Amino acid sequence: MHVLVTGGAGYIGSHTLIELMAEGHDVCVLDNYANATPEVLTRVRTLSNGQIADYRGDVRDAAILDQIMQDFAPDAVVHFAGLKAVSESQQKPLTYYDVNVGGTLALLHAMDRAGCGRIIFSSSATVYGEPDYLPYDEAHPTRPASVYGRTKLMAEQVLTDWAGADPGRSAVILRYFNPVGAHGSARIGEDPQDIPNNLMPYIAQVAVGRRPALTIFGDDYDTPDGTGQRDYIHVVDLARAHVAALDYAGRTPGVRPFNIGTGQSYSVIDMVRAFERACGQTIPTRQAPRRAGDIAAMQADPARAQAELGWRAQHDLDAMTASTWAWQSANPHGYDAG
Ligand code: NAD
Ligand code: UFG
Repeated sequence: MHVLVTGGAGYIGSHTLIELMAEGHDVCVLDNYANATPEVLTRVRTLSNGQIADYRGDVRDAAILDQIMQDFAPDAVVHFAGLKAVSESQQKPLTYYDVNVGGTLALLHAMDRAGCGRIIFSSSATVYGEPDYLPYDEAHPTRPASVYGRTKLMAEQVLTDWAGADPGRSAVILRYFNPVGAHGSARIGEDPQDIPNNLMPYIAQVAVGRRPALTIFGDDYDTPDGTGQRDYIHVVDLARAHVAALDYAGRTPGVRPFNIGTGQSYSVIDMVRAFERACGQTIPTRQAPRRAGDIAAMQADPARAQAELGWRAQHDLDAMTASTWAWQSANPHGYDAG
């Protein structure tokens, strides 16, 4: 199948390219490198020993989208391109709506013009917001607490209406929990451009000596050790969920959301201890108050993805931390070191 991957040079997109190519799909990338470097695709090509057509441009740009539709004629699109920093979204709401919702609209318009009716969309567990119950199933109410989460929910609504308007269309919405880890080659991984917002890349940068200590945000949550709990999922498992979703979209019209998590959750302290096992060092920590907007715990019920996509996570916590450490220790400055 010809698969257009928007945001394919990013963290999740790059791992997904490898899994798509391993399954024999032809891939094409559109990325504006707002949060990535072309070096990523160089490495993915080497790892996959294959071709990747790539276009540098913005997902909101109708002209480049039409060009790709004409040159590559995708059968399906996997749509990762977007902005993802929760705190930045509160400061720059219009930018986030523009890129995340406007980008999705521009892409769907271009797909319509080209007669492409299949899309896999990167959504987020943050669409659920404060839990009424855990684990979240897909029927849990959606009331996101951040601008970022609202842009994802709004894009989901656009996709739902788009898919509902024509029986030839299919939209699969993947609600990711907390992606971590890196490819087994240690050649690609997560490389935040600035101070990491997220726990795992922060711990990894402490371990390689780029930062003095991890700040633990909050030790007074209603959780067994008082720190926040999340459902961390290995990025290679997440990437494989996209391959399963493409198969599903090929046989199922309409729209369907899926939780993509493991169904297990770990606290901040659990993650620090697991990383210490992986890297053989102590990770210095300091305690700070809760981070604004954080909730105590999140956990996926992945039963629907197992039953309908035939997908389940294979990697455990030690595989997540070991692969993160392998990537970060081999590339202490990420892709900058070349
Ligand atoms: P990432 O920033 O590494 O990847 C996003 C890619 O999109 C980058 O390569 C960036 O350069 C590109 N991009 C950004 N704006 C663009 C634009 N206007 N036009 C073209 N390309 C553009 O992020 P990621 O972690 O790989 O996330 C991928 C998707 O998954 C995003 O939509 C994100 O919101 C979603 N998601 C991520 C997480 C997470 O924790 N990483 C969780 C839930 C959902
Ligand atoms: N945390 C720290 N110190 C840090 C960073 C994080 O203690 O330096 C804690 C947080 O307070 C939270 C846990 O680690 O308890 C996980 O935080 P992350 O920032 O890694 O992840 P979040 O759950 O806050 O959010 C992430 C992405 C969102 C995505 C969501 C999906 O940032 O984009 O996962 O569940 F939508």
